Amino acid sequence: MFEEYVSKTSKSKALYERARKVLPAGVSYGIRYFEPYPFYTAKANGSKLYDVDGNEYVDFWLGHTALILGHNPPAVVEAVKRQFENGTHYGTCHELEIALAEQVAKMVSGAEMLRFSNSGTEANMYATRLARAYTGRSKIAKFEGGWHGGYDALHVGVHYPFNIPESAGLTSGALQDTIILPFNDLEGVKEKVKNEEVASIVIEPVLGAGGGIPAEKEFLKGLREFSDEEGILLIFDEVITGFRLAPGGAQEYYGVTPDITVFGKVLGGGFPIGAFCGPRKIMERLDTRVYERPHYSFHGGTFTANPITMTAGLTTLKILEDGQLINKLNRLGDKIREQLREIFEANGVDVQITGVGSLFNVQFTKEEVKNANAVFKADRKKLVDYHLKLIENGVFFLPTHTGALCTAHSKADIEKLFSETEKYAKQCKAA
Ligand SMILES: Cc1ncc(COP(=O)(O)O)c(C=O)c1O
Repeated sequence: MFEEYVSKTSKSKALYERARKVLPAGVSYGIRYFEPYPFYTAKANGSKLYDVDGNEYVDFWLGHTALILGHNPPAVVEAVKRQFENGTHYGTCHELEIALAEQVAKMVSGAEMLRFSNSGTEANMYATRLARAYTGRSKIAKFEGGWHGGYDALHVGVHYPFNIPESAGLTSGALQDTIILPFNDLEGVKEKVKNEEVASIVIEPVLGAGGGIPAEKEFLKGLREFSDEEGILLIFDEVITGFRLAPGGAQEYYGVTPDITVFGKVLGGGFPIGAFCGPRKIMERLDTRVYERPHYSFHGGTFTANPITMTAGLTTLKILEDGQLINKLNRLGDKIREQLREIFEANGVDVQITGVGSLFNVQFTKEEVKNANAVFKADRKKLVDYHLKLIENGVFFLPTHTGALCTAHSKADIEKLFSETEKYAKQCKAA
C-alpha cells in the first residue's frame, strides 16, 4: 500500500529510524506522524515544501494553517532580518509589542486590550483563567470536536467517542469543571448548561481539527444571547480563523462579538505566538495595579512578545489589513470546494466538502456534516488513503487534517490538486 511513498522517500525513512531513538514516534508533535513514516522537510518556500529526498509538495497544511502568506514571504523575511540586528529576545518592554497590539485592536472589534503568549494552548489556558477570575465561577464549557490545545481543562471531548479520555494523565480534578456541549445545537447547549454556574463557553467558530465545520450564524447569535442572559463569558477560539476568515476574524465574518478572543497561528507571521484579548473591563483583571492577589488573574511567559514574533506578526497583519488578499483566498476556497465536490460526484464517490473561506476538507460520507460526530463517522480510512495518494504525487495535506490556502498558491498548484484528486476519484470508481 505504501510502496510508491517508500520508493520516493528513502532518506526520510533513514531519518525516521534515527528520529525514533530520540523523539517518541520520531516526531515533535504526535499529529505529525503518519503511516508508514512522515517525510522530513529540508526546506520550504512560497507554496512548496521540499523533503530530504528532493520531493516537492504543494503545501496545503501550511505549518498547521499558520502560513497565510506562504513560506518565507519576502516582506516578513526582510522585517525579521532587520530585527535580528537589534536583538531576538529582550525580556523587557518594547515598542513592537504595543504596535502589534494596536494593530490587532484596529482590526478586531472584540480586541480592545490584549496579552501575548507563545502558543494557542497557552492563550486558551490564560483566557480560561481570566474568565474564571472575572466571573468568580469555576465551571467552563467547550464543544464536541473543539480543539483548543493541550491545556488539561480543555483537553476533553475532542475526538469521537467524546467520552473517552483524550490522554492519560488528565486527572478527574482537572476535568470535573468542564462541560462538553453539542456543536450547532443551541437547545442542546441550554440543556447542558442549565442549573450550572458557568464562567465561559469557548467555541471555535469553525471547527478546525474537528473537520473544518463552520458554526451556523444563527447558532452563534443564539449562543451570544444565551451567554449574555446567563452572565457567561463567550470565548471565540480564533487560533485558526483569526486574520484568515476576514481581517477581523470569524467575529467580523459572522457579525458576532465574543467577550474574549484567542488568537495564534497567522498572528505570529510564521513564528510562535498566542494572544487573548477583550474589553478593558475584563482584561483589567490582568493588571496588578488594579487587582491584587487573590483577585487578579496571572499571565506571563519568558518569550512572550519577543521582538522577532512581534515584527513578523505586524508585517503580516499590515499586508492582510485591507482584506483584499483574504477575500481572494476565500473566493478561491469557494471554487475549490465546488470543484472537489464535482470531481467526486462525477465519479460516483460520496463526499461532503467541509470548510469555509480559505479552509477546506473532504469527508467521505453521504450524511450532512454539521458537527464533529458526522466527521468521525465518515470513512476516515479513505480520507487517509486519499491524502496519502496526494502526498505520493506531490500534494501535501497532513492526513485527515483540514487544508488551508495561502497567497503563494498558484493556479498550477490548484490545478495539481484537482488533477490528483480526479485520479484518486477515478481509482475509487474503478474499485
Ligand atoms: C483552534 C485552535 N486552538 C488552539 C490551538 C492550539 O494552538 P497551539 O498549537 O499554538 O498551542 C490550535 C492548534 O492547532 C487550534 O487549532
